[in-house]
Amino acid sequence: MLFQSVLIACILAAVESNSVEDSFKAHGVVPDVVPHAPSQLLKVTYENGLVAKEGVVLTPTQVKSQPLVEWEAQPDEYYSLIMTDPDAPSRAEPKFREFKHWVVVNIPGNDVASGEVLADYVGSGPPKDTGLHRYVLLLYKQPGKLQFEGTRVSNKSRRSRPKFHVAKFAEHHQLGEVVAGTFYQAEYDDYVPILHQQLSEN
Ligand SMILES: *[C@@H]1O[C@H](CO)[C@@H](O)[C@H](O)[C@H]1NC(C)=O
Repeated sequence: MLFQSVLIACILAAVESNSVEDSFKAHGVVPDVVPHAPSQLLKVTYENGLVAKEGVVLTPTQVKSQPLVEWEAQPDEYYSLIMTDPDAPSRAEPKFREFKHWVVVNIPGNDVASGEVLADYVGSGPPKDTGLHRYVLLLYKQPGKLQFEGTRVSNKSRRSRPKFHVAKFAEHHQLGEVVAGTFYQAEYDDYVPILHQQLSEN
């Protein structure tokens, strides 16, 4: 009985970890965004309990507000949370790959609100007729508290958002390993013009 329970627990753990790897590979998040998939699923919940995982399709309206992001943190560790869209302006011709949606660094444990925001959260704004974009959320476990320069990019600004490369950013700042991740997909809806209007400041 005990043996069976352990076996089932192992199988469930394997299924869980494979699902992140499988979905990252199936949708080309590996290698378009990161060279290797994280082993753990990052829990990302939008308004009305909508969970962003395994490439589920959500609408820009559903993701307009910053989601709740949860993970099992190790005490006294710092984490970075980054959301990026490799499909800017379209997956077919990603000439602005990637568009930076959200960057929070030096998060103590899993207290996102106490982290240092380098770029405010902005939801999905895929232009009309550009199909589904992938929105990838990655969690890095930092080697310690890090120093960052520059001013915060507000949720009204596009500054430094296009042509971002999360893998290069992570390497440059030595963010450490990607320990968890997830992604959803979205295409144009009526909220997109409102978001583009919001992003009109420099
Ligand atoms: C933009 O950021 C401000 C300040 O953090 C926040 O109060 C506001 O709700 C945000 N707006 C949107 C549309 O997310």
